[in-house]
Amino acid sequence: METNAILLGLIVLISSSSLAFSFEPSPLQDFCIADTNNSVRVNGMACKDPKLAQASDFSFGGLNIAGNTSNQVGSKVTPVSVAQIPGLNTLGVSMVRIDYAPWGINPPHTHPRATEILTVLEGTLHVGFVTSNPENRLISKILYEGDVFVFPIGLIHFQRNVGYGNAVAIAALSSQNPGVITIANAVFKSNPRISSDVLAKAFQIDKSIVDAIQSRN
Ligand SMILES: *[C@@H]1O[C@H](CO)[C@@H](O)[C@H](O)[C@H]1NC(C)=O
Ligand SMILES: *[C@@H]1O[C@H](CO)[C@@H](O)[C@H](O)[C@H]1NC(C)=O
Repeated sequence: METNAILLGLIVLISSSSLAFSFEPSPLQDFCIADTNNSVRVNGMACKDPKLAQASDFSFGGLNIAGNTSNQVGSKVTPVSVAQIPGLNTLGVSMVRIDYAPWGINPPHTHPRATEILTVLEGTLHVGFVTSNPENRLISKILYEGDVFVFPIGLIHFQRNVGYGNAVAIAALSSQNPGVITIANAVFKSNPRISSDVLAKAFQIDKSIVDAIQSRN
């Protein structure tokens, strides 16, 4: 009986603390510049000595440079997260520049750790996200220069350049390290592959179609 009560208490504690940590915790100091050489593994990265802080720990240059969109999807994401700016460690924010060739897409993907707020600097984008089960409702819109759109944390979203010229967007994300799961790659190109039986049944298609998709580059 007593063991059960302790177990129950533990479960309540674990579930409530995981609730408390579903977003990045508030900093307990001015900043914590990532010390990428430190072998200590913490949630985020260990701090370098704050006395050694430099402006360069908080800056990044080159977001004016267009990404190379000569690829299969016709878009390029240039991230500015904790990997590029060590001073972002523990601050719960990052950004990206996204370039789109005419009719290029940023394929359906999700950020496991961040809500995204995107603004169009140039061009016209069709953007959207899909709500969770059971509705799976697509909420989408055409955005023009200066328009802003929000992709809620965890939801699958995409953008498509529907203009005849290039398009450029800037987005802010509510994590120093938002993470990306590109749906097509995660489902069809995992390493090792998900069994084609599983995918054939999930998508209600013939196994040969799954095999064909999985063997593509
Ligand atoms: C990591 O170590 C290298 C080589 O010792 C040094 O050049 C670099 O500045 C160090 N990085 C940090 C963030 O301390
Ligand atoms: C863009 O990427 C393509 C494909 O990788 C490459 O052939 C091309 O040289 C790149 N262009 C520039 C300007 O870097």
